[in-house]
Amino acid sequence: MTLRFSDDGGRHGRDSSPPSPILPLTESRFQPRRRIGFTARVRRALRSRALRLALVLFIFFNAAEVLLVRRNLLLSDPPAAEREFAAAAPRRERVYIASMHWNNAKVLKRHWNDAVVGLAGALGPENVFVSVYESGSWDGSKEALKELDARLEALGAPRNITLSNRTHRDEIDEEPEGEGWIETSRGKKELRRIPYLAALRNRTLQDLLELYEQGIEFDKVLFLNDVVFTTDDVLTLLDTNDGSYAAACSLDFSNPPSYYDTFALRDSDGGSHLMQTWPFFRSSLSRKGVVANWPAVPVKSCWNGIVAMRAQPFVAEHHPLRFRGIPDSLAKHHLEASECCLIHADNPLSAELGVYVNPRVRVGYNTAAYVATHPTTGTWVSPWGIFRGLWASRILRWVYRPETRDWIVARRLKKWAAEGEGNVEPGAFCIINEMQVLVERGWAHV
Ligand SMILES: *[C@@H]1O[C@H](CO)[C@@H](O)[C@H](O)[C@H]1NC(C)=O
Ligand SMILES: *[C@@H]1O[C@H](CO)[C@@H](O)[C@H](O)[C@H]1NC(C)=O
Ligand SMILES: *[C@@H]1O[C@H](CO)[C@@H](O)[C@H](O)[C@H]1NC(C)=O
Repeated sequence: MTLRFSDDGGRHGRDSSPPSPILPLTESRFQPRRRIGFTARVRRALRSRALRLALVLFIFFNAAEVLLVRRNLLLSDPPAAEREFAAAAPRRERVYIASMHWNNAKVLKRHWNDAVVGLAGALGPENVFVSVYESGSWDGSKEALKELDARLEALGAPRNITLSNRTHRDEIDEEPEGEGWIETSRGKKELRRIPYLAALRNRTLQDLLELYEQGIEFDKVLFLNDVVFTTDDVLTLLDTNDGSYAAACSLDFSNPPSYYDTFALRDSDGGSHLMQTWPFFRSSLSRKGVVANWPAVPVKSCWNGIVAMRAQPFVAEHHPLRFRGIPDSLAKHHLEASECCLIHADNPLSAELGVYVNPRVRVGYNTAAYVATHPTTGTWVSPWGIFRGLWASRILRWVYRPETRDWIVARRLKKWAAEGEGNVEPGAFCIINEMQVLVERGWAHV
């Protein structure tokens, strides 16, 4: 009833006839007059020339802006049907492909295995090494990876597919001693998720180090999440900034238009995203890069689906690069940081060569997400998405200061720094107000 009534009020504008008798008295007293009064005021205002001109200019400015951004997107990132593929050119780059898996049989069987075999074929089996580390899955991931092993064998691609029977249960049943164990609010010592993941990621690098000792080297390490991707996606990513970077990442989607991995993405100022949809960033450099669809958008950290990194730091003689978590003494303050962000903070090449997101490479954690970010016609961000994104970004930047969001983390970091001489964390920009621990069938926030 109320709805119908206010509709009428809007449509009839200045008409101040008494409200419908079926309405309760209290509502009829207030609502109609306020609405009509407002409508009348708007109409009066519209009669003012200045305001009409401003409105026309606003519409014109926005339409022009949206059209320009869209045109640039179309030219730089053509829809699948009009795309030229990069795969044809012969490549000389050597790529070490590293990945870890836990319960993702579905994407392995439907997509990932095929994609990796296709990629190894395109790069040349003699130019790759495929390292896969799986542990504790119960969903058929092991069987799927055995298939992959056989297919890579047939292709003649060197690889190490390790299937470990070690489960989360085994991990958390260990004696709670040493790094990674922390007293939680649940009143017990629990295993932090990030040091556990860091150790697993390090394992996927094992053969890179061993082959290096034998004199077999690689130019890039390609980290693949359990995502839907094509060979062309990877070749485009590898060529980001003409192949010159410390790290280059795709954008990842599970539920578009929101991107997925918020834990590791930091803009060129080290800030976390302003919004989870296009154009994502607060810092003007990163934001400008996304709006203009640069193939290399400078950021401080990223790990969004697929990541290509220069291999050299991992095999460096002094302080070789490794995945790690923040120290337990810092995590105790209820803080955590992704190992995939800290790696960029620790990488000496980050400052020299840069870390980039390539927004022309978009991958999905499921087929629907991949398809949605690769329309067959038009642009992957719709005109409405562009308009909404540009304005949401402006408004959020006006009303939302980054300091107000990060003051809790900043205060705890300061407290920790005062606790000991050596308490310095180079990856401070990675830190968030969270604690994550391993549990039997996954992980939990505590
Ligand atoms: C896991 O594998 C190891 C050796 O490969 C074996 O000793 C152990 O019993 C296995 N554990 C389980 C739970 O299957
Ligand atoms: C990888 O990182 C983990 C956790 O920091 C560490 O325990 C392990 O020794 C590292 N592995 C290598 C090969 O450096
Ligand atoms: C395969 O990788 C695992 C660690 O991920 C390592 O322990 C093992 O030695 C490797 N095997 C070979 C043959 O390189």
